[in-house]
Amino acid sequence: MFQGMSSTREIPETRSIPKHIAIIMDGNGRWAKNKFLPRMAGHRQGVETVRNVIKSCADYGVEYLTLFAFSSENWRRPADEVSFLMQLFASALEQEISKLHENGIRFKVIGDTSKFESKITQLIRKGEQLTAHNSKLTLTIAANYGGRWDIMQAMRKMLENSVDTSASFEEESLSKYLSIAYAPEPDLFIRTGGECRISNFLLWQLAYTELYFTDTLWPDFNENEFALAVQSYQKRERRFGQTSEQIKR
Ligand code: IPE
Ligand code: IPE
Ligand code: MG
Repeated sequence: MFQGMSSTREIPETRSIPKHIAIIMDGNGRWAKNKFLPRMAGHRQGVETVRNVIKSCADYGVEYLTLFAFSSENWRRPADEVSFLMQLFASALEQEISKLHENGIRFKVIGDTSKFESKITQLIRKGEQLTAHNSKLTLTIAANYGGRWDIMQAMRKMLENSVDTSASFEEESLSKYLSIAYAPEPDLFIRTGGECRISNFLLWQLAYTELYFTDTLWPDFNENEFALAVQSYQKRERRFGQTSEQIKR
C-alpha cells in the first residue's frame, strides 16, 4: 500500500491517560484585574496553579508535562512586568527544584535561554543536572520559547551536521534537533483564559494533538478543571487520517 513520506505515518499508541500534556497558562492578568489587584498578583497565584497541575499529572500517571511560561513575544510587555516575571521565575527555580527532585520529577527547559540573566541560566542548568535521572514525570518549562524559533534552530543544526547538503532530508532528520526531541508529541493541549490560538507554542509537535480550550483563567484552573480536560480528551477519537471504522476494528 502506498504510504506518503510523513513522520505521522506511524500511528502512535493512544491511551486513555494522555502521555504528554502541553499547556498554555493564560489569564493571570485578567484574574488579577477581576479582583482589582495588580497583574503581578495573578502571576504569583499562577505559580500556585503550576504546583497543583504538576501534582495532578503525577497522580494521573501523565509522563510529560510541558508548560508555556514565557513566549519569545512576551518581551513586548511593559518592562516592569517582564522583570517581575523574571524574578518570579528565578525564585520559583530556587524554591521548587529540590521539591521536584524529591518527587522524582525530571526538570527541563526549552527556549532561547541565552537571553536570560546568568543567575537564571545557572539555576536552570543546575536543576536539569540534579533531576536528569528522575523518571516519574518530565516537567518541561518553555521559557523565551517560540515554535518558529525552535524549527529554525533545528534547521540550522541539521544543516551544520549534514556532510552532504544535497542529501534528501526527511521529517525525522529535522525533528531530532527540535528542543523537545526527548518527549513524544503532546496528546493533549490545554489553553486556559479563553483565547483559541496557539501563540507560537509547539508548532511542529501539535500537528495531531487534541486541543482543549477553556475560559477558566489559569489561577482558577484547579484539580476539577484538570479532570474536565482529561475527560474531554477521553471522548475524542484520534483517527490520524484513518476512518472511524478502521479505528474500531
Ligand atoms: C499568562 O497570563 C502568563 C504569561 C503570559 C506570562 P497573562 O499575563 O497573559 O494574562 P492575561 O492574558 O493578560 O489575562
Ligand atoms: C501565551 O500567552 C504565552 C504564555 C502563556 C507564556 P499570551 O497571553 O502572551 O498570548 P497572546 O499574546 O495573547 O496570544
Ligand atoms: Mg495572556
